[in-house]
Amino acid sequence: MSRVVVTGRVPDAAVEKLRAAHEVDAWPGPESIGREELLRRVAGADAVVSLLTERIDAELLDAAGPQLKVVANVAVGYDNIDVPACTGRGVVATNTPGVLTDATADIAFGLILMATRRLGEGERLIRSGQAWKWGMFFLLGSSLQGKTLGVVGMGGIGQATARRAKAFGMEIVYQSRSEIDPGIAAELGARRVDLDELLSVSDVVSLHCPYGPATHHLIGPEQLTAMKSSAYLVNTARGPIVDEAALASALREGRIAGAGLDVFEHEPQVHPELLELDNVVLVPHLGSATVETRTAMAMLAADNVLAVLSGERPPAPIG
Ligand code: DGY
Repeated sequence: MSRVVVTGRVPDAAVEKLRAAHEVDAWPGPESIGREELLRRVAGADAVVSLLTERIDAELLDAAGPQLKVVANVAVGYDNIDVPACTGRGVVATNTPGVLTDATADIAFGLILMATRRLGEGERLIRSGQAWKWGMFFLLGSSLQGKTLGVVGMGGIGQATARRAKAFGMEIVYQSRSEIDPGIAAELGARRVDLDELLSVSDVVSLHCPYGPATHHLIGPEQLTAMKSSAYLVNTARGPIVDEAALASALREGRIAGAGLDVFEHEPQVHPELLELDNVVLVPHLGSATVETRTAMAMLAADNVLAVLSGERPPAPIG
């Protein structure tokens, strides 16, 4: 029997699955486990099931000890994990791709609709108790039909967002490290372009690339200036892909029309200027937040752990 440490609250079904075969030490939450407590608990663990709020770095791997075999992140993004440090110690790192694709694309598209149709503004207006009435020019937004969606990072979530956009009558361009499956490109009518072209032709830019040194502030002052003044930016990937101060300036000065953000540069803090602006929709990292999706993510993380502890290849290794 191996010892598995779960660093935060996850759906019970996943903990039970692990517990059927191993000794499980699961942090009960609801507050995040503190760093000190985390370092103390991982000592002697054979497996760590981590949430994206916990940093899995050399210090933690050393605190765990040489018997550690697997770190299973309950997220598709793994910027919280020092993967080379894991690999260097023979620790397998895993994530949860696939199971959150639709949930995240739904939130991306929800933000696109909220931003372009000014739903947040309308909701705030009614709740404020201010008088309002229907008017020909009242809270006019922008239509999506016939407009262009630019997808930055055309993996599963980018493709699922593009599929939704296509159903709304949008044209698709994308920027990605590699060409996507030609069948999918044809189905979506999607054209691969470079980032400069994508920014200049898109009416909505939606970010779906992984975060790392290569994508830090991928969208900064220059890129925001390259966008149309009528365009919208949506980020459901990771906050630091966008230079939040530059975005706040672009929104305030009307250099782009609006934005929808599910993730933040210094999460959970939000740039104070964004809070003052009406043309940005702000939601608290809800991309995968459905009961079904979070359960599937936790079950996949449990399967990753069980496979590695049985000497098998896990279903979702990173890299
Ligand atoms: C992920 O899996 O990376 C998401 O951000 C979690 O919601």
